[in-house]
Amino acid sequence: MTSGWDAMARWRDRRMGANGDLWHRSLIDPAVRRVVGPVRGLRVVDVACGNGYLARRMARAGAATVVGFDRSAPNVRIARGHERNDPTGARFEVADAARLPLPTGTTDLVVANMALMDIADARGAIREAARVLGPNGRFVFSIAHPCFDLDDRSLWSVERGFGTDGIYRATVWRKVRGYRVEGRSRIPWEVSAGRIVWTESFHRTLSTYSGYLRAARLVVTRLEEPWPLPEIVAKSPQGTFLTEIPLHLVVEAVPRAAPTRGSRTRQRSRAGASRRSGSGARTPGTGSRGRGSTTVS
Ligand SMILES: C[S@@+](CC[C@H](N)C(=O)[O-])C[C@H]1O[C@@H](n2cnc3c(N)ncnc32)[C@H](O)[C@@H]1O
Repeated sequence: MTSGWDAMARWRDRRMGANGDLWHRSLIDPAVRRVVGPVRGLRVVDVACGNGYLARRMARAGAATVVGFDRSAPNVRIARGHERNDPTGARFEVADAARLPLPTGTTDLVVANMALMDIADARGAIREAARVLGPNGRFVFSIAHPCFDLDDRSLWSVERGFGTDGIYRATVWRKVRGYRVEGRSRIPWEVSAGRIVWTESFHRTLSTYSGYLRAARLVVTRLEEPWPLPEIVAKSPQGTFLTEIPLHLVVEAVPRAAPTRGSRTRQRSRAGASRRSGSGARTPGTGSRGRGSTTVS
């Protein structure tokens, strides 16, 4: 079945080019690149790679191998076309993020840039990222910020007026509704005058993403809320708002170390010690906004 991503692959490629569109270039990618760090010598997978610009960039930066996967065949054709015209060594394949055609434990870095919120089975995609990572691997992903960018359920509100200090100013609010209501929404993209292509997006709460990572035995080691660079502040009407409220998250997660025999014994003896001393016990009715639930002191 043709998806919206298929239908607008060419249009999106023109926007993204080799360095990303304005939003990637001057807001999302600087944080992604910082969190990814040096890739020289790494075996890298770019999940939901779009036109492949980031995969190709990582190949150029000296990654040992780079494979970009996307479910959209037109995107993969476009990425391969760029590779033919200007080879970097990156490879591109059609694949679903929740079923990567890769052996277990063979990757050092999995990147999913602005993709998990567009993937119906994000739990499966995260599980697959974890499966293909080696024990020292890292999973880096960026997503629309689940708290502030809920598609048509979030918007900017700008109020202008005099403050109590007598100064006339604009106050920027980000209005959000239905944060706890997870589900699918349709995103319109105006690819030419009057022609709208729709894609699907899936809002999930932070707790849901955290649960998916936990189920995949991944632990979060870094989290950034990208700051806008001057370019987007100057060029986008939302630029200055982004200096107050972030619309994206960049996350690094790594495989949780399997407990060794020794560490299990150590954990057990620590638990025994805290039971004996009374520390670590659950204390009813404290620390949780008076809802009577329990907390660990
Ligand atoms: C917003 S685009 C991001 C593309 C690219 N990472 C970038 O930053 O330009 C989302 C991408 O997810 C891909 N996608 C959606 N569902 C997918 C799935 N289940 N498996 C693999 N790719 C998927 C789409 O084809 C699209 O290329």
